[in-house]
Amino acid sequence: MKILDQFIVKTLPLVPKPIVARLSKPYIAGDNLDSAMAVCRDLNEKGFRVTVDILGEFLTNIDQAEESLLGYKQVLEALVANEIDGNISIKPTFFGLLLQLDRCRELLHELLTLVAKHENFMRLDMEDTPCTDMTIDLYDAYREEFGPKRVGIVLQAYLRRTMDDIAAITARGQSHFRLCKGIYVEPENLAYQGYEEVRANFLECLKAMFDAGAFVGIATHDDYLVAESEKIIRERGLGPEHYEFQMLLGVRETLRDQIRAAGHNLRIYVPFGKDWYGYSVRRLKENPALAGTFFKAMFIKG
Ligand code: FDA
Repeated sequence: MKILDQFIVKTLPLVPKPIVARLSKPYIAGDNLDSAMAVCRDLNEKGFRVTVDILGEFLTNIDQAEESLLGYKQVLEALVANEIDGNISIKPTFFGLLLQLDRCRELLHELLTLVAKHENFMRLDMEDTPCTDMTIDLYDAYREEFGPKRVGIVLQAYLRRTMDDIAAITARGQSHFRLCKGIYVEPENLAYQGYEEVRANFLECLKAMFDAGAFVGIATHDDYLVAESEKIIRERGLGPEHYEFQMLLGVRETLRDQIRAAGHNLRIYVPFGKDWYGYSVRRLKENPALAGTFFKAMFIKG
């Protein structure tokens, strides 16, 4: 990262919210369900599948989790009503994972019942390491009850434990993974810190998932990982029933068009909602073109 970018990343918390809002516009499908559905329809028309995420995490009060459930029920109904080729992604902490595990489990169970009724699918996003074991336990329980076609989990290639998790999870049943690098700040004893180390583990994890016969959502914008994943897919003669690529809304659209043009299925992660700040800051920190965009946003109105 260039020095100017590093400076901006460090000072991002000081940037006025309206500027962060302007910068994060490409990454967020508006602040309401209608705007999110319009983005989903547009992406479907362009040949992309979607997964919808309501922005929000780390609740302070378990009552807020009821609102999360209501919001996601509305998303599901809207996906069905609009005949969108898409599913939902949820963060367990948005349902109170760290506040009241039993209530979180009940609320997600209620949501999954609706998911199953509509023959849709729910992905459990993976958050930071205090959530890892609990999220895997939730996945195991729901997969057992609702079946592997209704629920999936995310595993993060930067975690040292992930290869073991793949072995354990796939030994317990047919699995549906999303594999990503991992975005939270984790200590050295838990997570690989080197860029190349994470890449290498990503590919080892991908192979292990395929070896176990799992479906994998290959979630990355990294050219190298896309190319190496394509190689693995080709060598193994895998078809679309075994994998899809996944990318975040607004990120590297040229790459996503190339992946689609090469004949792979590609799902776009579509976040929306009022609680956009934390998500936006994480996206902006990843963007090396941040400096230019930042200064443009400071000086160009509109
Ligand atoms: P990397 O960060 O190296 O980026 C590769 C290239 O893409 C670089 O050139 C980079 O600059 C560019 N790029 C990346 N982000 C950009 C941005 N915001 N704007 C412009 N360019 C950008 N994490 C997690 O911990 N739990 C989860 O559940 C999920 N879920 C998830 C779903 C989906 C669909 C995706 C694509 C990603 C996630 N992630 C996630 C995030 C993931 O862990 C990771 O932090 C990001 O995908 C960035 O890693 P890349 O593999 O893209 O590589």
